[in-house]
Amino acid sequence: MNLKVVAATPFDDQKPGTSGLRKKVAVFQSAGYLENFVQAIFDTIFDNAAAPSGSTLVLGGDGRYYNREAIQIILRMAAANGVAKVLVGQGGILSTPAASCVIRKYRTCGGIILSASHNPGGPEGDFGIKYNTGNGGPAPEKITDAIYAASRSLSRYRIIDAAGVALDRIGSYTLGGMSVEVIDPVADYADLMESLFDFAAIRDLIGGGFRLCFDAMHAVTGPYAKEILERRIGAPAGSVINGVPLPDFGQGHPDPNLTYAHELVAIMYGAAAPDFGAASDGDGDRNMILGRGFFVTPSDSLAVIAANAALAPGYADGIAGIARSMPTSAAADRVAEKLGVPCFETPTGWKFFGNLMDAGKVTFCGEESFGTGSSHVREKDGLWAVLFWLNILARRRLPVEEILHRHWAEFGRNIYSRHDYEALPAVVAAGVMAQVKGQFATLPGSSFGDYRVKFCDDFSYTDPIDGSLSSGQGLRIGFDDGSRIVFRLSGTGTEGATLRIYLEAFEADPARHRVDAQQALAALIRIADEVSQLRPRTGRAEPTVIT
Ligand code: G1P
Ligand code: ZN
Repeated sequence: MNLKVVAATPFDDQKPGTSGLRKKVAVFQSAGYLENFVQAIFDTIFDNAAAPSGSTLVLGGDGRYYNREAIQIILRMAAANGVAKVLVGQGGILSTPAASCVIRKYRTCGGIILSASHNPGGPEGDFGIKYNTGNGGPAPEKITDAIYAASRSLSRYRIIDAAGVALDRIGSYTLGGMSVEVIDPVADYADLMESLFDFAAIRDLIGGGFRLCFDAMHAVTGPYAKEILERRIGAPAGSVINGVPLPDFGQGHPDPNLTYAHELVAIMYGAAAPDFGAASDGDGDRNMILGRGFFVTPSDSLAVIAANAALAPGYADGIAGIARSMPTSAAADRVAEKLGVPCFETPTGWKFFGNLMDAGKVTFCGEESFGTGSSHVREKDGLWAVLFWLNILARRRLPVEEILHRHWAEFGRNIYSRHDYEALPAVVAAGVMAQVKGQFATLPGSSFGDYRVKFCDDFSYTDPIDGSLSSGQGLRIGFDDGSRIVFRLSGTGTEGATLRIYLEAFEADPARHRVDAQQALAALIRIADEVSQLRPRTGRAEPTVIT
C-alpha cells in the first residue's frame, strides 16, 4: 500500500453543529479541509492509533455536489488508517436513515455520512459530514467535542495513493489492503420498512383508487421512494415526483416545508389534489405530510402516529415511550399520558434521542422541524413517517384532515407555529437572546393582556442515561394557561445566525379547532416581539419562514 503521511495545518472552524460539520462546498474543497476533519474522526474513534483489526465502516451521502470526490478521499484515508472494510452505497448514495439501518444491520463500528441535509447543494451550495456511532445514531456531544479538539491539534493526516473505486458497480473491491463493498443503497432499508408496516393493506388502499404524490425534491429519497412506493406498494408510476437525485437538487432547496416544497404544495392545494402528499429532504431524514388541501404539523404528526401505533405491525405490541425535542409541541405528551407511557423532553437535535432508544425507554421520537422516527434506526426517517401515515390511512380509511380533527377532538389541539429569522448578523441574534434572558428575573408574574407569565428559563437537560448535562438549549417563557414562547438560535445554518421563535397555545374546545394558527397565536406573537425587541433590533418586519 502506498501510504502517505501528509503534514497538516489544523483549522479552527471544524466544530460540528446540531448535525455534523456543515460549510460551503468551496470550504470543503480547500486544501486539506476535508482530510483534516476525517483524520480527526479517525484519531478520535481509533484513539490516535490504527483502526482495531476487523473494523468496518459504512460510507455514503445524499448525492450532492462533491459527494463522489469526498467518498474517494475518505476511502483512501480509511485504508491508510487501517480500516478493514467499508460498505459504501452504490454511486456514493445512502440516505441518512438508510445509513443508520446499514450500520445496525451489519453491526459495523459506525459510519460517515456526507450531507448538509436540507441545505441547498451545487458548487455554490453547502456540503457536510458527520460521524455516526455503532448504534447507527449521530455521535454524542462527548465524541463530537473530541473530534473538534482533534481537528484543532492535528499535525498530519494519512491517505494512500490509489486509483478511485468504481462506485457505480455493486461488488467487492480492494483498496490498499482494505476491502470495499459497493452495496445496493435501497434494499436493506426497503426490507426494514416492509417488516414494520402493513404493505398488503396499503397495496389494497391504493388498489381502491387512493392517490398519493411523493416529492423527492431531486434529492436522495428518489430511488428509495420509487422502490418502496411505486414497486413494493404499487402506487402508479409518476406518484414519485422529482425522483432523480441531482448534485444541485435541480437548483432547489430540498427542505420539505410549505415554503420550499412549493411544487407539492401547489398539487395538494389544487383542484385535482390526490388523497395524500409527502416530501422528504436532501438526505431523506425529514418529512412533510399533507392531506388534500391540508397541512399536518410535524408535532401533530408525531402525536397521531403515537395514538395509532397499534395499527402498524412493527408497533402492534405497544410502545415504550415517546421523546420530543423541547421546542416541539406537547401534542405527543397528551398521547403518552393516555397510553400510560413516559414522555421525554430533550434538547434540539436527534442525537439526544439515542441514549433513550438504546436504553429501551422510548419507541417514537419527533421534532417540530419535520423530523419523526422510531427505534428501528437511530436517525429520523422521512419515508418511515410517510409509510406510517399510509398504514394508518389504509386501516382507518378516512381523509388526512378528518384523522386530525378526530385526534384533536380526543386530545385537544396544541396550536403551533415557528417563525424563523434567517441570515441575521451574529451579534444581532445574540443581542435578541440577551435581551430576552435579561428579563428573566422580572418576567414571572407579569401580565401581557390575558397572558400571565408563569415561568421562564434557559432550557437545560440532564441525560437520564449517562448523566451528561446540556445547557443553553433555548429560552422558554411559559404562561399560566399552558401557552409558551421559545427563543433559540439555530445550530445548522451556514450564513450568519438564524433565530427561531416557537409559539404554542392549547385549545381544548373542538368548536375552535378549525382556527388559523397565525390568528390564534397573534397575541403570543406580539408578546414575543415586545419581550425581544425583535423589530428594532433586527430591522426585520417579518420572519423569513413561517411554519
Ligand atoms: C434544525 C432543527 C432541528 C434538527 C436539525 C437537523 O436545527 O431545528 O430540530 O434536529 O435542524 O435536522 P437548528 O438549525 O434549529 O439547530
Ligand atoms: Zn436531513
